[in-house]
Amino acid sequence: MTPPAIEVGALTKEFGGLRAVDGISLSVATGERRVLIGPNGAGKTTLFHCITGTLSPSAGRVALFGRDVTALAESRRTALGMGRTFQISNVFANLSLAENLVLALIGTGRRKWIMHRPVGAYPDLRRRALEGLEHVGLRQRADESVKHLSYGERRQLELALALNSNPKVLFLDEPCAGLSPGERQRISKMIGALPRDITLVMIEHDMDVALGLADRVTVLHRGRIILEGSPAEVQANPEVRDVYFGHV
Ligand SMILES: Nc1ncnc2c1ncn2[C@@H]1O[C@H](COP(=O)(O)OP(=O)(O)O)[C@@H](O)[C@H]1O
Ligand SMILES: [Mg+2]
Repeated sequence: MTPPAIEVGALTKEFGGLRAVDGISLSVATGERRVLIGPNGAGKTTLFHCITGTLSPSAGRVALFGRDVTALAESRRTALGMGRTFQISNVFANLSLAENLVLALIGTGRRKWIMHRPVGAYPDLRRRALEGLEHVGLRQRADESVKHLSYGERRQLELALALNSNPKVLFLDEPCAGLSPGERQRISKMIGALPRDITLVMIEHDMDVALGLADRVTVLHRGRIILEGSPAEVQANPEVRDVYFGHV
């Protein structure tokens, strides 16, 4: 039996007196596309941060392909195959799209970054950067500076950055947030077109996007899992309709 891509056991995260994540256990199979939904403040982002190592949990454990990574730093988890979207603040606005990707490739690789060497002096990395931009539909914009991108295009660049490290498991926290309906459709199509061997764990507020992409859906409410099932099961569940859609 192959171990699951992600296994979370009795994970708890407290902030002061608040239990943002309250004893969550879940398992995501290799190659699965899992979507987490739940109202604002349910603990989704905190759970993500504990899995990827941005935050350390108050209790519980996290395993990646059967290996306990609970005590490992985020950078070690990245090296072992966990990828996540970078906050856009990590992007250098004055550099071009391609330069940003090359810098990220230097950062994740073993290669030493020589300060006085121009980013353009890494032709192999530039080639990989252009491939990455091609994947997210930004190849034409490669040499423009990031500050000229629209908000939606920045989100596409974030996705390219996340894919840069060749993740085995990719974590996306509301990749469509703040996008226009057109951009939303574009990004969700891009996510849907990712290779199936990348395990995907995604937080998504938009139910159409969530249910369209997910193999399985996990519903969080007040730090706990209230339901896990197929998109159809989740959609049909009255309790989910109450807490999530706010129907009385
Ligand atoms: N760094 C923090 N310090 C204190 N409270 C936090 C922190 N991060 C999140 N919280 C609280 O934890 C709860 C869950 O937040 P979050 O994980 O962001 O929820 P979601 O992503 O589902 O909207 C919220 O009540 C939020 O205010
Ligand atoms: Mg959140």
